[in-house]
Amino acid sequence: MGAKKEIFIRGIGSYLPKRILTNKDLEAIVETSDEWIVSRTGIRERHIAADDEFTSDMATQAALRAIEDAKIQPREIDCIIVCSVTFDMAFPATACIVQKNLGISECPCMDLEAGCSAFVYSMEVAAGLLQLGCYKNILIIASDKLTSITDWEDRTTCVLFGDGASAVVLTTEAYGARAMLVDTLLRAYGKDCYSLMQPGGGCRHPASAETVEKRMHYLRMNGREVFKSAVRGMGAILKDIFLRNQIEPTDVQHFLPHQANMRIIEAVAETFQISLEKFLIVLHRTGNTSAGSVGIAFDDGYRNGRFAAGDTLSFITFGGGMTCATALVRWLL
Ligand code: UT7
Repeated sequence: MGAKKEIFIRGIGSYLPKRILTNKDLEAIVETSDEWIVSRTGIRERHIAADDEFTSDMATQAALRAIEDAKIQPREIDCIIVCSVTFDMAFPATACIVQKNLGISECPCMDLEAGCSAFVYSMEVAAGLLQLGCYKNILIIASDKLTSITDWEDRTTCVLFGDGASAVVLTTEAYGARAMLVDTLLRAYGKDCYSLMQPGGGCRHPASAETVEKRMHYLRMNGREVFKSAVRGMGAILKDIFLRNQIEPTDVQHFLPHQANMRIIEAVAETFQISLEKFLIVLHRTGNTSAGSVGIAFDDGYRNGRFAAGDTLSFITFGGGMTCATALVRWLL
């Protein structure tokens, strides 16, 4: 084995659908209030995909922006990974649909499901493949149409989610790179896996009149349990990645947390005594966009010039599985 290759982020992109659903709009759908949603979550509005706009369509838009940002042609992408919990279909892989949309042929395409942590999970997977020398440019896309599995009669969940996608191009080529991937750390707590799920539609409960009647094709969440697990899991994994890289939380200039709930982010900030100003927050206008959320925050920070050369960025996610992941990234440009 040769020396470990460095992994770079070459292009970044994201996409949010046009239609906006505000908390006020939700007041007309379920018994809730703008005050409750803002005070319990921080969310004010979210973007909703059109009826004929699917996970693959949002993924394609985010991918095109990341490819353009990478200053390469779509044909130079030689592997595609799509992360989601709302793939277009059980199969074919949504990554294959995106490949078709991008007009690329032959490159391997695969879907990766790791809940809201999938974006960081796929960074580690892609980095491993790049280390092996298999590929030059791997396109990672996280895209979810969560509103397609939202139970609009369940006020405990329907106020939380929105649709959107984000993408990055990873490479071993330093030339023109925007950032460097320093380290990733992934975990899962399968013992709590049923705290967040869509029980119907798989082989355990194939679609039937009964699964529809029991509303099993919608997302179900034990919010309180997930909240507690998220604060615990994110705190523990951050501590461990800091330790193994011998850095302190004060060495990090920007935290990019999963955008689920402002109170979760505040709890993590409190644990490490970090100023909230260091956290990139978009959830007030996106809601929880699942796998794509950290990438959407990343692209937002990038396009708004938040990052300076030499800055350290810390991604931190938690979600269905229950999965937990973190990545350290050094901004270069
Ligand atoms: O992306 C994957 C990761 N997901 C997450 O990280 C989500 C984690 N969980 C959460 O963010 C929070 O648990 C929620 C936002 C889902 C809920 O917040 P909470 O502070 O844990 O509220 P709760 O479930 O304890 O409910 C408090 C009260 C209940 O009423 P009672 O029993 O106290 O009378 C609920 O019925 O709030 C009520 N409630 C609502 N009221 C108005 C629940 N949803 C609503 C609503 N509007 N939409």
